Amino acid sequence: MLESVAGRLAKINQSHVLAFLPSLAAAQRDALLSQLDGMDLESLPELVKSYVLSKPVLALPADLQPARYFALDGTVKGGGEPARSAGGSHTWDREAARAAGESLIRRGKVAAFVVAGGQGSRLGFEGPKGCYPAGAVTNKPLFAMFAEAIKATGKKYGVSVPWYVMTSPLNHEQTVSFFRQHNSFGLDPTSIMFFQQGVMPSLDMATGKMLMSSKHEVATNPDGHGGSVRALHVSGALADMQRRGVEQLSYFQVDNPLVRVIDPVFIGLHVGAGVKGEGYGGSSGEMSSKMVAKAGPDEKVGVFCLANGKTEVIEYSDMPKDLSQKMDAQGNGGGLAFNAGSIAIHVMSVEFLQRLATNPAFALPCHRAEKKIPCIDAAGNAVTPTANNGVKLEKFIFDALAMCKQSIVMETDRNEEFAPIKNATGVDSVESSKALQTARAARWLEAAGVKVPRNVDGSVDCVLEISAMTALEASELGGLKVEIAPGARVVL
Ligand code: UTP
Repeated sequence: MLESVAGRLAKINQSHVLAFLPSLAAAQRDALLSQLDGMDLESLPELVKSYVLSKPVLALPADLQPARYFALDGTVKGGGEPARSAGGSHTWDREAARAAGESLIRRGKVAAFVVAGGQGSRLGFEGPKGCYPAGAVTNKPLFAMFAEAIKATGKKYGVSVPWYVMTSPLNHEQTVSFFRQHNSFGLDPTSIMFFQQGVMPSLDMATGKMLMSSKHEVATNPDGHGGSVRALHVSGALADMQRRGVEQLSYFQVDNPLVRVIDPVFIGLHVGAGVKGEGYGGSSGEMSSKMVAKAGPDEKVGVFCLANGKTEVIEYSDMPKDLSQKMDAQGNGGGLAFNAGSIAIHVMSVEFLQRLATNPAFALPCHRAEKKIPCIDAAGNAVTPTANNGVKLEKFIFDALAMCKQSIVMETDRNEEFAPIKNATGVDSVESSKALQTARAARWLEAAGVKVPRNVDGSVDCVLEISAMTALEASELGGLKVEIAPGARVVL
């Protein structure tokens, strides 16, 4: 193997990774050679040229419009609308969508899918992010919160909801053993399938050379949540879904404890139920997305746009300032014209994923992220960088939207469904997430007639956590009798 690997490396000018080979023990030598042997080395020069030594500039389509979306108020907003029928406006029917979604769930056609392969470097937590203590009162791990939602959904609809968990080689063992230690959080372990995504070599920012994490290992990073399309296929997860009769996957990220893990309304709308009005023609049921109205022009979220008739997400860093700030008096009720913020929640059909993953020409584009990547230097000494030294190349799942024949976007209330834990402190931290969890629980309880202590400024004067086993949505709390004292910590 040495000869072939050495030859391939020489061709792409990356032979430095073998520099320590003579000093390695046999097992380390084998490990390094087999790691390199499994890599797609041949595609590296092009990637280095396009994403490391130069920064790709996104050419925005000339006719970029705000994406059309199914709004919370039951209307259809945004750009690219087909002509309205005389005097009418387009609407959608939430209850019809819910009924269709519930029917699919009840018939075992829906599975949950969490992407949990990320490195969570901003959070700085040792271990997979899904193990992070996130419950506002209980400090329950994120995985436990999702497991409860899956269990509660199964109970409500009389079905076992399969759960697909994508890990990466960097956190797979830890994730699987965390589930084992916690007895799969009370779920049937045969309904949970773990599978690993691929990795990419991490590259030196100045030279494009592969970084080494030790003398016998190339530094790698998971290939992004977009790596899930290929990983779902290669791992046999798609085949497993087909065997079980699963048709739709409810996709979510591991860092949002408020996510509605399986949302019947979203699933129903995704398959075209409840859509009214000429010209919409329902949905292809291939890949759909949830959006929230942007908090302001500078909020750092991707934005759903319409380009050449297709829905796409434009990253906040690629969005021209004039478009981010543009106001639209008509389409979005007087708010920002481009107001559809992506919260990385999708429904994807198994058929769509299968079609993509088995197409030899299928490839999602790469995105470049500059990071501090621990590595060794040419002398073999460990380097802990204090500034960005490397480039990670990642694929993003939302780039698959462009491959849909048709795709819909549904608005949801950010206070109901979005409390991400990305950072150790400040914005999108565990602290802000716990405050949002409490705020949502307070609203649900008040809607159910429970008195929640509040401060004079209206903020909640207690800490609240409602398990999905108690209620998946506010309407399930009806009839609850509970007294909450100021400053109390209450788990329901
Ligand atoms: P983020 O973009 O927040 O990345 O991932 P991250 O790696 O978790 O965190 P940072 O940027 O290093 O701080 C969003 C979601 O996508 C998953 C993450 O686990 C999270 O659920 N993800 C990300 C993957 O599954 N694989 C990846 O390669 C990257």
